[in-house]
Amino acid sequence: SVIHRSDYQEPAFWIDSVDLCFDLDPAKTRVLNKMKMRRNPHVVPQALRLDGEELNLSRVLVNGQGTSFKMEDSQLVLENLPAGNDVFELEIFTTCAPAKNTKLSGLYTSGDSFYTQCEAEGFRRITYFLDRPDVMASYTVLLRADKSKYPVLLSNGNLVEQGTLDDGRHFAKWVDPFKKPSYLFALVAGQLVAREQRITSRAGKEHLLQVYVRPGDLDKTEHAMNSLMASVAWDEARFGLSLDLERFMIVATSDFNMGAMENKGLNIFNSKYVLANQATATDTDFGNIESVVGHEYFHNWTGNRITCRDWFQLSLKEGLTVFRDQEFSMDLASEASARAVKRIEDVRVLRTAQFPEDAGPMAHPIRPDQYLEINNFYTVTVYEKGAEVVRMQQTMVASGPSDPLGREGFRKGMDLYFQRHDGSAVTCDDFTQAIADANPDSKLAQLLPQFKRWYSQAGTPRVKAVGSFDGASGTYSLTLSQSCAPTPGQAVKEPFVIPISLGLISADGSEVASSMHVLTQESETLTFTGLQAEPVPSILRGFSAPVILDFAYTDEQLLALLEHDTDPFNRWEAGQRLALNRMMAFISQDALAVADMKLDARYIEAMRSVLRHPKLDAAFKELALTLPSETYVAEQLDVVDPQRIHAVREALRAQLATALHADWEWAFEAHHENGAYKPDSLSSGRRALTGLALAMLCIAARTSGDTVWPGKALQRFKDAGNMTDRFNALAALVTSGSDLAAQALQRFHAMFKDEALVIDKWFALQAGATDRGGNILPIVKQLMTHPDFSMRNPNRARSVIFSYCSANPGAFHRADAAGYVFWSDKVIELDAINPQVAARLARALDRWKKLAEPMRSAAREAIARVAAKPDLSNDTREVVTRALSED
Ligand code: ARG
Ligand code: ZN
Repeated sequence: SVIHRSDYQEPAFWIDSVDLCFDLDPAKTRVLNKMKMRRNPHVVPQALRLDGEELNLSRVLVNGQGTSFKMEDSQLVLENLPAGNDVFELEIFTTCAPAKNTKLSGLYTSGDSFYTQCEAEGFRRITYFLDRPDVMASYTVLLRADKSKYPVLLSNGNLVEQGTLDDGRHFAKWVDPFKKPSYLFALVAGQLVAREQRITSRAGKEHLLQVYVRPGDLDKTEHAMNSLMASVAWDEARFGLSLDLERFMIVATSDFNMGAMENKGLNIFNSKYVLANQATATDTDFGNIESVVGHEYFHNWTGNRITCRDWFQLSLKEGLTVFRDQEFSMDLASEASARAVKRIEDVRVLRTAQFPEDAGPMAHPIRPDQYLEINNFYTVTVYEKGAEVVRMQQTMVASGPSDPLGREGFRKGMDLYFQRHDGSAVTCDDFTQAIADANPDSKLAQLLPQFKRWYSQAGTPRVKAVGSFDGASGTYSLTLSQSCAPTPGQAVKEPFVIPISLGLISADGSEVASSMHVLTQESETLTFTGLQAEPVPSILRGFSAPVILDFAYTDEQLLALLEHDTDPFNRWEAGQRLALNRMMAFISQDALAVADMKLDARYIEAMRSVLRHPKLDAAFKELALTLPSETYVAEQLDVVDPQRIHAVREALRAQLATALHADWEWAFEAHHENGAYKPDSLSSGRRALTGLALAMLCIAARTSGDTVWPGKALQRFKDAGNMTDRFNALAALVTSGSDLAAQALQRFHAMFKDEALVIDKWFALQAGATDRGGNILPIVKQLMTHPDFSMRNPNRARSVIFSYCSANPGAFHRADAAGYVFWSDKVIELDAINPQVAARLARALDRWKKLAEPMRSAAREAIARVAAKPDLSNDTREVVTRALSED
């Protein structure tokens, strides 16, 4: 049943300590749980209700004596506990079946090893418990298992004892020195090996860092270890936060629902975010590993030391920790241009994934008000928009020239946050209050109640800007008006607090003004005086707030910004607007055939100047020369025909490929390098640009009939010294529909047949390839019969099914509805195996109401078909019910 934020009540009991003993066995693991508990004196005396799921209960003892209990739904209810506030001991003995746990929540096996995933509510699948984040306890864990099958036995905290037992078994005892909520519990058992590193912190303390993987993967752990060391150093330097444990472990598993998990002292990761070497991982993989390792490490303070009072507060730890990992990656990319590239990439994710979520049936505030299944709220809204809301708080504690970005003020706020709340489970209100209280004179403090609407209102605000210039007085006025469309359950929105970073550029390209304006009213007008001529406004620099900016820029203005803006984000944005305006114009002219859509020379010349620019760096050029994604374009339209968007984008890409042929050749030759591989931002930028150039040259070859460049791509594919270049060459052949693609794909599979993460790429590339006459769906179905395909492994299921349904709109949205029928079959099939993965896939049709007919009706029918299944999980049910709701 639906849970409401407003219903929060303190727990009726506290758990002071937990003593767990596991006898690990894949078919039947025995769990003995001894808890020291007491009543919460603030709550009226009542029965104890413990959560449990898919457990076999065999014994319950209170202070060593048998006791009466009953089951109500999935809860274990104890009504006859001792009265008064004294501590009592509750002992519960259960068994569970890790090998049958295909949901990958709780204790499960992957390969021959045991892993856990307890966030959000997986601990109740291990033992009966008060499985909520505000119950923080001290844990002692004894693990027992067969020594030869499970030589490594890990849990949170410190290893205090280990030894052998009878029958070839052994044990390990772990004690976590910190209190924690149950969602941070973890254990791992199996045949694993570790890369180890000893470090000394600033404070002079010694720590042991370990990265555990399967034997054979050790040569792919160096980058994760480097990222972990960099994370430790960064959190000390930027926030004064040190590692608080003697030992910090990361373990990789190939079966994992999400990215990774910040269990205290024992982070468990999807292997995708740990394993990398130059032969198997791309630059993107290296970058993702750096940020996910950082993210989970930073949770140790923002999440673990201070945790969430209830799951509605999820953004308290996730929004803040994403903000921290984004800042970490930007700080590691030392050059200013690389910082900007990271910012552009983060904004691109926000706009292509979060904006649609905020405009669709699953829209929710970063602090949601209700949920049926909390796992559905680990969203880009809670994470990425949450991070933007934290970033705005930093911006709004800036105190002038001495702290223009607000970093110092924000640091003071963080210090106060830890001073007040270390060791407790708190709310988003507690966080914003601490940041504001530490900066009493800031804009944030002045506007706090209104600012907090970012936590309570869903939807992306739209800021409309209109400029007018009065030549006689030399005055430019800019009127900014905000609005926000209704979202489910929120018909009317109050004005937000929107920090808008502004600049004015004069005709000769120099900057004549710059300021930070905080928009609080529905409409405000700014005036700038003393101007010779009408300036071009550069609005929302650095994407200073998560809003949609409407300004009727002319081509001349956009070209001026693209050439002269000092803000790299808006420089990139100007190029995107130039492209978007053209794409929109072509899409909307219903009678216009794709063959007649001609890019104008002005746009082509602008792109040529960017590509040939002597000062811009390669990574920026790659971003600027990439057309807005199909998903982003779709969001700008009221009625969406995904195939037409796809056709238009392909056509324009082909023209850019052909018109700039000589420039792409130059770019390819000038940027490709043969030196040793390094994953740093400069050389990865060069690889990104050569990759784009090669793809463009292969696309141009398709039109011209040239065979030279596809041949070069094949050669490069064969000779490449790293996965980035190899994969880009392969992708260039596949996307351009080259005849050489098939043999390259075959060769790629043969080369990497034992590297699961590379085989995921192989599947994803084919399922995400350009549709030619409806050929992708049959390819996808064929791929699912491949011996390497498995529905049970989330990475593999995602590599085929999600790459098609969520990442390939031109192929998925078919007029014959076959894509939707396939989708509904797979949602239903996956739901029986793993509801979390199924519910994610169910989100692929979130925006069905915008589709043009006949897709719209067909999509609704497919969703209704899923919704009609009687025994759907809460996860999938919540998604499809919301999708069908009239709200
Ligand atoms: N806290 C983890 C992270 O952001 C995500 C775990 C989510 N897992 C889940 N099943 N909902 O790093
Ligand atoms: Zn997180």
